[in-house]
Amino acid sequence: MKYLQLGKTDLFVSRICFGCWQLSPRFWGNISIDEWNRALERAIELGINFIDTAQAYGDGFAESVLGDFLKKHRCRHKLVIATKFYWNLDDPQNRYPDTSYNYIVRECEASLKRLKTDYIDLYQIHAWDPLTKPEEVACALLNLQKQGKIRWIGVSNMNVHQMSMYMRYMDIECLQPLYNLLDRDVEKEELPFCLEKRIGVITYSSLARGILTGKYSEDTKFEDSRAQHPRFTGENFKKILNAVNVSLKVVAEKMGLTTAALAIRWILTHPAITSAIVGIKKPEHIETIISAPDNILDRQLWYKLADEIANAVKK
Ligand SMILES: NC(=O)c1ccc[n+]([C@@H]2O[C@H](COP(=O)([O-])OP(=O)(O)OC[C@H]3O[C@@H](n4cnc5c(N)ncnc54)[C@H](OP(=O)(O)O)[C@@H]3O)[C@@H](O)[C@H]2O)c1
Repeated sequence: MKYLQLGKTDLFVSRICFGCWQLSPRFWGNISIDEWNRALERAIELGINFIDTAQAYGDGFAESVLGDFLKKHRCRHKLVIATKFYWNLDDPQNRYPDTSYNYIVRECEASLKRLKTDYIDLYQIHAWDPLTKPEEVACALLNLQKQGKIRWIGVSNMNVHQMSMYMRYMDIECLQPLYNLLDRDVEKEELPFCLEKRIGVITYSSLARGILTGKYSEDTKFEDSRAQHPRFTGENFKKILNAVNVSLKVVAEKMGLTTAALAIRWILTHPAITSAIVGIKKPEHIETIISAPDNILDRQLWYKLADEIANAVKK
C-alpha cells in the first residue's frame, strides 16, 4: 500500500480509504455485519489505515459498528478515523442540516462515544449549511481542536467560495468531493484550488456507487436505493454499462487489473488526489482493488479513458 501526507497535517494515509456508508440500511439495505467486520480486518492486514464514516450513516449505526471494531481489535492508535457532522438527527424521519455551535459540540461528543475513542483525526463538515455563519462553525471546531477532541478539520461537498469563507476563520486540511470517471465537475475549480492551498482531497463514490466495477448487467436488479437512482435505471443505465464494458473493462483486462482497480487508479493519477474512498461490504471488495495505488496511469491512457467514457455516455 502507498501512503501520502494528508494536506499539511501530520497524518500519512493509505491511498485507498475504507468507506462506511454501506452501513446505512436506508440506502444500502441490511448488509452482513460479520462480513463487513471481516472486510475491515482484511483491509487493515493489507495496509489500509484510513477509514471514513459519518454520524448520518445509519443515524449513528455506522459509527457504532466501527467503534465496536476498534474496541475489539484495540487498533484505534494505528488508524486515521475521519467522520462528519451536518444532519440534526433528533427526529431521524425528518432530519435537517444543523451546524450551529451547540449542535456541533453535542454531536462531536456523540460521535466520540459511538466510536469509543477520545479523539477524531479528521472532523468534516458534511455539506454547506446556509443557516450558520462560517465564524460560528469555526468557533465550535477550533474549541474542539483546542480540547484535543478533534485533530484536523475537513469539508465535503463544497465549492471554492464556500471553502474560502471557512478559511477566513480556520485551516481546512481536506476536501471530500464526488469524483470519478463519470463525475468530473471538480476538475475545473476545486481540485486546482486544493493543489494551490495544499488541501488534501479524498474522493467519494470513487466507483460511482459500483457502476464502474463492470460487474452489473442490464438484468441486474438492485434492492437498495440504487433501484430508484437515474444512473441505475432505463436507457441511462444501459449506456453507462456499455461504456464501461467497451472501454474500461477491456483495458483493465489487458493490464491484469480488475475494472474497479483501474477506475480507482484513474482517480489516483490526478495529482490533487490524496486517497480514493471506496464503499466496502466484503473482503473480496478490498482484495480486488488493493493493487490500484501501485502505479499511476500514463497520461495518454488517462485522457483516453476519460474521453471514451464521456463520449459513450453523451451519445
Ligand atoms: N461526503 C459525502 O457526501 C459522501 C457521499 C457518498 C459516499 N461517501 C463516502 O464515500 C464512500 C464510497 O462511496 P459510495 O458508497 O457512494 O460508493 P462507491 O465506493 O462508488 O461504490 C460502492 C459499491 O461498489 C461496489 N464495490 C466496492 N468495491 C468493489 C470491488 N472491489 N469489486 C466489485 N464491487 C465493488 C459495491 O457494490 P454492491 O453493493 O453492488 O456490491 C459497493 O456497494 C462511502 O462509503 C462514504 O464513506 C461520502
